[in-house]
Amino acid sequence: MFGKIIISTIIIVILSSFVFIYQSIPYYQGEWSSKHIKNDVNIYRDNAYGIPHIHAKTLKEGYYGLGFVHAQDRLWQLHLRRMSSQGRLSEIFGFRQEILNIDKYIRNLGYLESCKRIVEKLSENARVHLQSYADGINDGVKSLKMLPIEFKILGVQFQDWKIFDTIAFIKLISLLNVHDMFHEFMRTKFDELYGRELANILGSVGPHNQYDSGVTEIQEKEWIQFMQTHNVSYNKKFEQNSTKSVNEKITKYNLTEILQSIPEYYSNYIFPTLKASNAWVISGNHTKSGKPHLANDPHLENNIPSQWYQAEIYYQMENQEYNFIIGGTLPGLPFSLSGRSQYLGWGLTTLNSDGGDIYEEEILQKDNENLLYKFNNDWIPCKKTIEIIKIKDQEDQSITIFHTHHGPIMQYYIENNKLRNHNGYFYSLQSIIHIDDYESFDGFIMFAQGKDLKQSMEHLKHICYPNNGMVFISHDNHIGYLTTGRLVIKEGHPDDNGYVKKNNKEWVRYVPYKEIPMIIDPEKGYIVVANNKFIPDNELSWNTQPTSRGRRINDLITQMINQGQKFSISDHIKLQSDTYDSYVCNTKYELIQLLKKYDKKRELINEIEILENWTCKWDQESSGALLYGVFEYIYSFKFHSQLDEAVIKQWNNFYMFDSFHFKNLIDMNNAQPNDQILNQPYCNGFAQDKCALNLVESLKEAKQFINERFGNQTIDWKWGQLHNQVFTHSFSKTPFAFIFERRIPYSSNRRSVSASSYHLDGSFNGKTGSNYKQIISMDSEESNFFVIDTGISGNPFSKLYTNQMDIWKQNKYVKMEFGNRTNYDLLYVIHPV
Ligand SMILES: *[C@@H]1O[C@H](CO)[C@@H](O)[C@H](O)[C@H]1NC(C)=O
Ligand SMILES: *[C@@H]1O[C@H](CO)[C@@H](O)[C@H](O)[C@H]1NC(C)=O
Ligand SMILES: *[C@@H]1O[C@H](CO)[C@@H](O)[C@H](O)[C@H]1NC(C)=O
Ligand SMILES: *[C@@H]1O[C@H](CO)[C@@H](O)[C@H](O)[C@H]1NC(C)=O
Ligand SMILES: *[C@@H]1O[C@H](CO)[C@@H](O)[C@H](O)[C@H]1NC(C)=O
Ligand SMILES: *[C@@H]1O[C@H](CO)[C@@H](O)[C@H](O)[C@H]1NC(C)=O
Ligand SMILES: *[C@@H]1O[C@H](CO)[C@@H](O)[C@H](O)[C@H]1NC(C)=O
Repeated sequence: MFGKIIISTIIIVILSSFVFIYQSIPYYQGEWSSKHIKNDVNIYRDNAYGIPHIHAKTLKEGYYGLGFVHAQDRLWQLHLRRMSSQGRLSEIFGFRQEILNIDKYIRNLGYLESCKRIVEKLSENARVHLQSYADGINDGVKSLKMLPIEFKILGVQFQDWKIFDTIAFIKLISLLNVHDMFHEFMRTKFDELYGRELANILGSVGPHNQYDSGVTEIQEKEWIQFMQTHNVSYNKKFEQNSTKSVNEKITKYNLTEILQSIPEYYSNYIFPTLKASNAWVISGNHTKSGKPHLANDPHLENNIPSQWYQAEIYYQMENQEYNFIIGGTLPGLPFSLSGRSQYLGWGLTTLNSDGGDIYEEEILQKDNENLLYKFNNDWIPCKKTIEIIKIKDQEDQSITIFHTHHGPIMQYYIENNKLRNHNGYFYSLQSIIHIDDYESFDGFIMFAQGKDLKQSMEHLKHICYPNNGMVFISHDNHIGYLTTGRLVIKEGHPDDNGYVKKNNKEWVRYVPYKEIPMIIDPEKGYIVVANNKFIPDNELSWNTQPTSRGRRINDLITQMINQGQKFSISDHIKLQSDTYDSYVCNTKYELIQLLKKYDKKRELINEIEILENWTCKWDQESSGALLYGVFEYIYSFKFHSQLDEAVIKQWNNFYMFDSFHFKNLIDMNNAQPNDQILNQPYCNGFAQDKCALNLVESLKEAKQFINERFGNQTIDWKWGQLHNQVFTHSFSKTPFAFIFERRIPYSSNRRSVSASSYHLDGSFNGKTGSNYKQIISMDSEESNFFVIDTGISGNPFSKLYTNQMDIWKQNKYVKMEFGNRTNYDLLYVIHPV
């Protein structure tokens, strides 16, 4: 990746590697002194997994300790997160066009100005805590004998961590959490190709176009009750279809170029993005111990080191009582986003609310320096900002960003780094991450210190972003659910929210705090959140995609409750490890019928039988999973022959494809021969019953694909041989990949609760998964568990680099230790000076 300099560096690295390996592993036992603290900070660790337990006098000093251990174990990750979220990767990697494009893209988002304003306006409480975390990082760096190997290879230094860095990082992860905006170009293209009705079906717009749209996190009855008590004002019900199309005049743009430049395309080894997650809580009424349980597993990219880092802060509260906060942290942030305290447990998932929109702007370009955009028949000058991008060993580049009242014009969204005019139109991005929010941090800090669930949830209502669906349990036996992040109410019919917007679809307002969806102690005694619809159908949740994970978890929990069974911790372990694909099983009858009917030459008898016999479990040993996996991959490309492969990939890699596919199977099976649904223009051609024949074709090709790779003996067909979980590193595309990257055969797919999402690109490499899993009970006798997918250390020469991966892949966990325990193996003491 970085040319010849690298080759010579390799030699140096090999020569010095023995010294290096020894030198680069930080001390977990020892002493340090700092002017940033007033009391000792004790960092305990166990030998086995090295998870730090930070004992501090105050929460502020606890944050200091957390910064310190993040720096000890994850310094390169911190640096990379900082540089990527600020569009500064070229400063470390030097000139490379693809890296420069990422920098330009990030600068184009224009949120760094907002970060600066936020730093100025933070509350004293937030400032003190965030600064203490930064001080901890900077002292942690000084305590190291040498910087991690990645710094050595690239010849770069670590610069002091600042509050600004934390704020920019949270903006970036929040942006990538707002994923529907990335699909708006695609749906608009479908509209252009096939008309709005089919575009709605292909883009699963609106509940009536979705498969299994009934699973919601708050049920109708609870919702009605909530609406009444909170006087909710955004509960508009809608006609099934939007009556008018807002995009009558559709701009012709090069969709391939746009989609290729979406950050997800780059993100695999650079950005953490919250793709999906599972979380559920069970009331004490349904557990053996009588105390509530919480299980959570967020699914981000599989990077190495893991996105997550386990840690505990044990500290004294203002009222002198002791408390602890333990769970999964994301280095760069001082919070346990998923975890527990003495009094509360919490878990998070991505909320599929729609906090980002692409607007088509009609632009008058006076000259390269001045643009006007049209709004309400007026021509308004665009605001202009300039960004300087530093490039290692090269001259700086500057880019000019134009802004409308919606947000920045995304001229660097497109790879060609020039202001690109799409027939007189440009695209701007409006998103919740552009809000100057300085309340979120207080919300996070206050929340975890509370004893009373309802009060603590009130603090979280102030979080502006990210948009998450959170679940909670409390020591005094409550369970709860709350959505965090601003929810946006927009003009017009929600069907149109899925498309590129024009000026007649303005953001109207944000849902006020008191109307934010929440529940405490629903009658049914449990809450499941798995990226499903977060409230029953209305203008906010209208386009949320259903998920098979949500369906499966709901089914299994209700089944146990209906049978009067009580939950123990092992039930949650089983559920988190579940590889069953409810959507495949629920539509298998239809698939088999269609295959039998259209396999006119009877060439697929054996393959159809394998699918029939398959239990829908994506287990490593499964032949049915292998066959369905390959079949689905091939089938998903039998659409949209007018579109480039890159575009089809954007479509088939998301929930909307699943929703379309499974609904379509049922609709096709119900159809009469030659019905419209069997002959749609999106099925690549107009042969009779083309859409159903594509299924047969795909299974035939799948058989061939598998025969070529694994032979024709079904016994040799195993999902785990094709499907690996791949843990990429920022050096994965360099000659150093062998040092850093890891891959393991793995079970699961994107629809099973035990998640492994792979892009349908033919590699079957799992790219996201349950990188952090936790199971919490509020009963003091029951053990709590957590695990991450790699290890605490980011140092490939440490045994802690992958030793949690070894147990994670067997669905095993590390026991959570917390509270006033001090008999750990190792102690590192930081004294005040
Ligand atoms: C509900 O809101 C409406 C409009 O804001 C207001 O007029 C009404 O008094 C409120 N009702 C209750 C019960 O708070
Ligand atoms: C509304 O949607 C349904 C379901 O997709 C479709 O059958 C119907 O034709 C649509 N009606 C109009 C007026 O577009
Ligand atoms: C769209 O962009 C791609 C990638 O740059 C290019 O290969 C293709 O020719 C373009 N298509 C059109 C119609 O301009
Ligand atoms: C447990 O059950 C009792 C009796 O049915 C009910 O009053 C209480 O609200 C339930 N608790 C929770 C947390 O669901
Ligand atoms: C399907 O299952 C039946 C019953 O277990 C078995 O006899 C048959 O061989 C299986 N078919 C295939 C193709 O594996
Ligand atoms: C299976 O493969 C073997 C070896 O490649 C071949 O000899 C045999 O004919 C094949 N059987 C079938 C049924 O295709
Ligand atoms: C530590 O925990 C034990 C067991 O929970 C308890 O008995 C003891 O009082 C605690 N000590 C302090 C100082 O909190």
